[in-house]
Amino acid sequence: MTERVAIILAAGISKRMHTELPKVLHEVCGRPMLAYVLDACREVGIEKIYVVVGFGNEQIKERFNKAVDIVWIQQKEQRGTAHAVSCCRQYLKDFQGQTLVLCGDGPLIRASTLKTLIKKHDEGQPAATLATAILDEPAGYGRIIRDENGNIKAIVEHTDCTQSQLEINEVNPSYYLFNNQILFDAVQNIKPDNVKNEFYLTDAVAHIIETDHKVLAVTAVRTDEARGVNSRAQLTEANKIMQRRIQQKLMDNGVTIVDPDNTWIDIKAQIGQDTVIEPFTYIHGDVKIGKACRIGPFAYLRHGTVLGDDVILGVFAEVKNSTLADGVRARHNLYIGDAAVGHNVNLGAGSITANFDGENVNRTNIGDDCYIGSGVVLIAPLELKSGTHIGAGKTVSQKSIDKSEKND
Ligand code: UD1
Ligand code: CA
Repeated sequence: MTERVAIILAAGISKRMHTELPKVLHEVCGRPMLAYVLDACREVGIEKIYVVVGFGNEQIKERFNKAVDIVWIQQKEQRGTAHAVSCCRQYLKDFQGQTLVLCGDGPLIRASTLKTLIKKHDEGQPAATLATAILDEPAGYGRIIRDENGNIKAIVEHTDCTQSQLEINEVNPSYYLFNNQILFDAVQNIKPDNVKNEFYLTDAVAHIIETDHKVLAVTAVRTDEARGVNSRAQLTEANKIMQRRIQQKLMDNGVTIVDPDNTWIDIKAQIGQDTVIEPFTYIHGDVKIGKACRIGPFAYLRHGTVLGDDVILGVFAEVKNSTLADGVRARHNLYIGDAAVGHNVNLGAGSITANFDGENVNRTNIGDDCYIGSGVVLIAPLELKSGTHIGAGKTVSQKSIDKSEKND
């Protein structure tokens, strides 16, 4: 079997984002952009991924420090995408397999497209295969130049296009698969003859063709995955596209989303069948929701929230880092943070867990079948036994609980 590795380019300064955070760490639906590209590589069976970093490299490495399949490559000066690839030479110069080259700012990538790319490459045995996309608005992307027979001749960057080339709407989303030896030969020969005076990886295509090798360009990338992120506006656009994908998948699995345009669900969320998500709900981070729950409208579920089955979490309910067992009712205006709430507990309107005492975050444990009245403040750390009944308007601390138990 052909050996295959990947290079992901992520060293850019991201000037157009105006940011101190490296571009590839900006999040799309709760995950950094780079994570999506890494996962797409893993999904097609790539076991070694060379990630080229430069600007903000320490932050990027720190964020992915648990990934054992990444080899970090330093590009000290950002002199273009071909230069970034050539920074891997030391590691890959003797490698005889195939090298997939992708950009870290393309989070919308689908593994299925990479599979098509690999299949076409293996069938046609060219020196390089690239996946292209047709865009109604191709501005900003490298254009695919084909000859009269439809074979690819070159890629021309937007800034270097002639007026007629600007009309071309077949673009380069930067998904390439190369014969590794030919790739490294090509990047060595690229000149920075362009408006930006950079070494462009896109020029490798023309070079490979000129040196009598075959390059295939397959129109395999759907519009919604072709988009790279160079600006904040494009980041928002990528978030929207990803959000649609997340919601579509949940709906396919039996979740009702009443108003998709006014609902936000991060990629890590898991939601059970027959759960209904009412409008203006925001599900952020690692959140698990069981079956047949009713969430929202206007609910805010934060990282670490785990809901059992048949939980009702109503209007203006905020839950953070808490577990709510099956049958919990929490319908109006409440905050539950760092708590474990037992089966069938009723949390009245406006009840809150006061989990932060100014220094520490403390936990609240509420047993099964408890009744917490409206406007109750539960001061953590607190332990409520199963069956506890607290009337409306009380402020409850562990001390007050212990005292009332003594008096009983
Ligand atoms: C690039 C392609 C363009 C394509 C578009 C798709 C080139 C020259 N152009 O343009 O044809 O349509 O992607 O989104 O390749 N990077 C480095 N080191 C560098 C320069 C860039 O690692 O010296 C990284 C960036 O961090 C980024 C990626 O390479 O992740 C692409 O660079 P970027 O400047 O965003 O290229 P585009 O102008 O988007
Ligand atoms: Ca880009």
